[in-house]
Parts: sequence; C-alpha cells; structure tokens
Amino acid sequence: MKKTAIIKDKLITFNKIIKVQGDKSLSIRWALIASQAIGISRAYNLLESEDVKNTLKVLNKLGIKIKNKNNYYEIFGNGLNSFNYKNNTIINAQNSGTLARLILGVLARSENYIILKGDKSLSNRDFSRVIKPLNHFGVKIKSNNNKLPLKMNGNKFLKPIYYEENKGSAQVKSCIMLAALNSPGITKIKCIPSRDHTERMFKYIKIPIIKTKKKKFDIIKITGQKQYKSFNYRIPGDISSSAFFIALTLLSKDSKILIKNVNINKSRTGIIDIFNKMNAKIKFKNKKIYQSEEVADIYVKSSSKLKAINCPTSFNSRSIDEFLLIFLVAAKANGISYFKKIEELRHKESDRLKFTSKFLKMIGIKSIETKNSLKIYGNPNLSLNGKYEVKNFQKDHRVCMLSFVAALTLGGKWKINDIDSINTSFPKFIDTIKKIGAIVN
Ligand code: S3P
Repeated sequence: MKKTAIIKDKLITFNKIIKVQGDKSLSIRWALIASQAIGISRAYNLLESEDVKNTLKVLNKLGIKIKNKNNYYEIFGNGLNSFNYKNNTIINAQNSGTLARLILGVLARSENYIILKGDKSLSNRDFSRVIKPLNHFGVKIKSNNNKLPLKMNGNKFLKPIYYEENKGSAQVKSCIMLAALNSPGITKIKCIPSRDHTERMFKYIKIPIIKTKKKKFDIIKITGQKQYKSFNYRIPGDISSSAFFIALTLLSKDSKILIKNVNINKSRTGIIDIFNKMNAKIKFKNKKIYQSEEVADIYVKSSSKLKAINCPTSFNSRSIDEFLLIFLVAAKANGISYFKKIEELRHKESDRLKFTSKFLKMIGIKSIETKNSLKIYGNPNLSLNGKYEVKNFQKDHRVCMLSFVAALTLGGKWKINDIDSINTSFPKFIDTIKKIGAIVN
C-alpha cells in the first residue's frame, strides 16, 4: 500500500448510499468473549482491520483455534480460562488499546506468565487504569512504570472485587467485567457511563449480569465462574467509521448520504446529538433492535448554517472517538465552540488535543487549548488555497482519516502521510471516499 495521499480537489455535490465496515469494539469483544465460550461461535461481517486481526492472532497464540471461512469467522471455545500456551509467551497488541486492556481481564486466572507488548503509540499509553483493579483481583503485574511492555501472571484463586471506575472508560470497565467472569462470587463495579457493548453482549448470551443506575453512575454486578455457550453474531457497521462520512457530507455543498446498517447504540451516538445541536439535521431510518444492540441507517444532508456549541460534558464519553471530527466541524461553524473535561483525548492513539491545536493553526483557525479543554473560534467562510501537509501524527488512524475529510471539504492542496495507519480501523476508507467522488492520488 502507498504511504502518502495527495488531494487537490474538494468533493463536488454527491448523493450516495454507502456501507461502512463492521464495528471495531463489537468485533474485538465478540472474539474475546467467544474464545471463552463452550463450543464454536461464528461472526459475520467481522471487521477485517489490523486491530481485529491482531486480536485473532493473540488468541491464536494463546492456543485458541480460529477459522476464517468465506463469509464468516469461527472461534472454537473450550470454556473459561481454557488457554493453552507456554510460560513467558509474548503477545503483541500492536496499536489496539481495547485488545491490550481487555485481554488482561480475560487472562486474569491464567497462571502462565504472559508478556504484553504494543507498538510505539500503545507503549506510550497508561496501563495503571487496568493494573490497579487487576491487582485487587489478586493478579500480579510488572510493568514499565505503568506502561508496556508488561509481564503478568493470573491467579488461580482470584477474589471478586468492588471497584469505582471514574474515567468513563469502557476499556477499563470491560477489563474488570472479563476478569469478573473468572472470579468466584459477585464483582461489583460503580462506573461513569461509557459504551456498554460488553454489558449488552453478556446479556445477549445470558451471562449473569445486573445493571442499575445510582445518580450519575452505573452499577454493574457480575456473578463469576459460570460457563456460557458459544454464540453467533452479526457485526453492524461502525458509527465511528460512519462519522467521517457524516462530517464530510455536512461540510460539502448540496450533498446527501445514506449510511446503511450502522450500530446506533446510545452510548456511541454523541456525535449525532452534538451535530444536531449545531444545526445539522441528521436522521435515523429503519431503526431496529438486533442482538441486544440498536441498528439503523443514518441519513445526512449538507448543512450551510452550522452554529457553535458549548458542548455539555455529558456528551464526552458518548462521542469520545469522534472529537477530531467535531472540532473540524466547529472550525466551520458560526461562533465560538467550547469543549470541557476532555483530557481523555490526550490518552488516545495520539494526544488528539495537541494535534487539533496544531492542525487548526495550520488551517488558520484560532483556538485556545488548556490541559482539559478547547475553545474554537469558528469561521463559516473558511476556504483554503495553500499547500498543507499532515505528518508526525504517531500513525493515529483517526487523525489520518480526519485529514482526508478536511482536504476534501476545505480546499487547498494536501499531502497526507502514513496513510497505512487507516488499516487499524477502516481499511476500506479510501475506496469508500472514492466511491462518493473523491480524487485521491
Ligand atoms: C473502546 C473504548 C474507548 C475508545 C476506544 C474503544 C472500547 O476507549 O476510545 O477507541 O472498545 O471499549 P476508553 O475506554 O479508553 O475511553
């Protein structure tokens, strides 16, 4: 694959129906949870991206049999904690925070040592957030100052825990939930709401879980060490991948798009609520509940009257992976937008707050960045004609795709580097933008 893309032309008016690839969070969860089921599980429309392929590779290295059939994948599970691997096996999560954090929960009762590694970006990310609860369960972990690589061996005699999760991180919550499956008794988690795919998948396959609300917190109780049966699953489209096309359409002229069959789980649709508050008119069509998740087609029209937003913090976790696009749309909106308590954006595949300030400056938009907030002085007349290069972004896939959206809607001549990073989550991204008329060299 080429390393660089050149874009010289804005997109012209389009009216298209598209599909995006399968949801990444659901694909990784299906693989990890199926690996601990009893029997053969199948997944249709599994996302074939680097993060998911690495999940399958890691499971395979831990002794789980996996088959890639023509239009589905099969995982052969032998029940909870039925891994088969040698002491000191090295597993590499590459770029995937979700894989790295969740697999540690899955391995909590497995006594052989594993060494967990990641690529440069993942090795810069914080693991104390999962090391701490796993220590409470009785798991021993040696790390490089709370970063990768780390060495862990599970504990045959795990203790169930009570844990308060206060970052609103679905990865942390899910790591604890997966460790809870391996512990006797009831594990209780009090957490700030975050994407709830793990809870829904547990319910769907009848793992004993009770979820209630207490003020702004979710309370989750899981009864551990109950075996569960294999299950088939069809992965819907990823709203985080759809988001690039939603922003692309909003910022293009006189255009429309219908994105088919996307997961619209409420814990993921913050971007739609934010854009609609900014005056967009995005609609869901053909809504249905499918395998405990909500699915719909997303209909978007261009919007020439976008206005700034003072973004309620309750949207933060519901749009955590979409902020780069929200910032771009705010740059074209009328007025000053304000985003608060968004420090988690500094802990993603790259520091996305730092990137945004640099990026906005490059395209001539004033912004003020603090440790945990961003103010953007929007300009609805923003139109570019210079030369722009996007580089040194730590191969953050979402930064890379955001740059395509900017190039195709703002004008100017763009060079975007490290485009192979897109394979992390959405390998068909460039094919899909070409389908709606983009010229990419
Ligand atoms: C994810 C949770 C989020 C998100 C990530 C995927 C998941 O991370 O940013 O891309 O699948 O659980 P945090 O849990 O760190 O917020």
